[in-house]
Amino acid sequence: MKTKDILILVATMTGTALMAAEDIADFCNENDIKTKILEMDNIDINVLINSKFPILICSSTYGQGDVPDNAQDFYNNLKDKSPNLSHIKYALFGLGDMTYRDTFAFGGKKFSDLLESLNAFKLGNPFYHDASDGTLPEEVAVEWFKNNIIKKIKNT
Ligand SMILES: Cc1cc2nc3c(=O)[nH]c(=O)nc-3n(C[C@H](O)[C@H](O)[C@H](O)COP(=O)(O)O)c2cc1C
Repeated sequence: MKTKDILILVATMTGTALMAAEDIADFCNENDIKTKILEMDNIDINVLINSKFPILICSSTYGQGDVPDNAQDFYNNLKDKSPNLSHIKYALFGLGDMTYRDTFAFGGKKFSDLLESLNAFKLGNPFYHDASDGTLPEEVAVEWFKNNIIKKIKNT
C-alpha cells in the first residue's frame, strides 16, 4: 500500500455495510487507490492506532442505537484505551433506518464521536444512509465517496 491508500474497517450485522465498503473499494481501485477491507471482529485496535493510511469506517446500527455485534469489542476497547489519534484521518459512512427515529444511525455516529474525541481528523462530513428511503446504500456510498472524500484523501 502507498500513503494515499485506504484502510476500510467494517462494522456490520447482515453485510450491507460490507457491500458498501466493497463498492467503494472497487471505485478506489479504478482510480488508482489501493484498499484493504477488514471486518472489525477480525482486528485489534492497534490496526487502527498504527495505521499509516487514511481510514474509512463503514458501520451500521443495531439493538437500540448500538454498534453491530462484530464491532462491540473493537469499539469498547478503543473507548477504554482512549489512545490519542491525532495522526489518524478518517471518513465515515454510517447505515441506519429512520424507522428507528430516536437512534438513527447511532452506530456510525458513535464511531464518529469517539474518533473525534480522540483527536482523529475528519475527512469531509460523515454520511448516514437511511434504509427506509428506497436508495441503495452501496450506490449512495460510492457517490458520497466520489463527491466528497476522494479529493480530500488525494490531498492529504
Ligand atoms: C434488529 C435491528 C435493529 C436495528 N436498530 C437500528 C437502530 O437503532 N437505528 C438505526 O438507525 N437503524 C437500526 N437498524 C437498521 C440497520 O442499521 C440498517 O438496516 C442497516 O442498513 C443494516 O446494515 P448491515 O447489514 O451492514 O448490518 C436496525 C436493524 C435491525 C434488523
